[in-house]
Amino acid sequence: MMRVAVFISGGGSNMVALLDDMAREGHAAVPAVVLANRADAGGLVHAAERGVPTVVVDHRPYGADRAGFECAIEAALKPFAPDMICLAGFMRILTAGFMENWAGSMINIHPSLLPKYKGLHTHARALEAGDVLHGCTVHEVTAALDDGPILGQAQIDVRPDDTPETLAARVLVQEHRLYPAVLRRFASGDRTPLILQS
Ligand code: GRF
Repeated sequence: MMRVAVFISGGGSNMVALLDDMAREGHAAVPAVVLANRADAGGLVHAAERGVPTVVVDHRPYGADRAGFECAIEAALKPFAPDMICLAGFMRILTAGFMENWAGSMINIHPSLLPKYKGLHTHARALEAGDVLHGCTVHEVTAALDDGPILGQAQIDVRPDDTPETLAARVLVQEHRLYPAVLRRFASGDRTPLILQS
């Protein structure tokens, strides 16, 4: 079984979707640990409720020392021996060194149809551009921000009365479909892109 570490910073709704799917039959992965960079990340409670170990590595004491923060992350992960990492709303930028350590074994979900709208405020940017299609992407993490081979995308139609908030809510529903479906395939060795229509 592939042992998965899930990294979160907030509410962890994607993490919950991943954990709940791994608990279902026929999955090639099991949750090893949930790691948060904030002790108040809401998702920690949901992980604990599901019997998944949690660890907190607070980034703040490290200041600009990203490598020091990442050393602490590696040390915290070690006892749980994860084979791969799923970033799920983890709001810290990782260094190239960390990403090299996990090359081919770290994936992320991003709320846009990459390569469009890397970075933040993706829903507002899609609206400003007048896009009629929007959605989310799961991709392998490489040294460039929100880049790396695409493993899956889910699309939604943009409605004329959409706001960044309504779009975010509908994209999140798709994130919860897409991420577990991609992890299932990835854990069984299938990296061909999965395209979901709403
Ligand atoms: C999601 O929209 C994810 O794509 C983004 O951060 C949000 C995390 O939500 N990068 P949650 O913590 O999984 O609820």
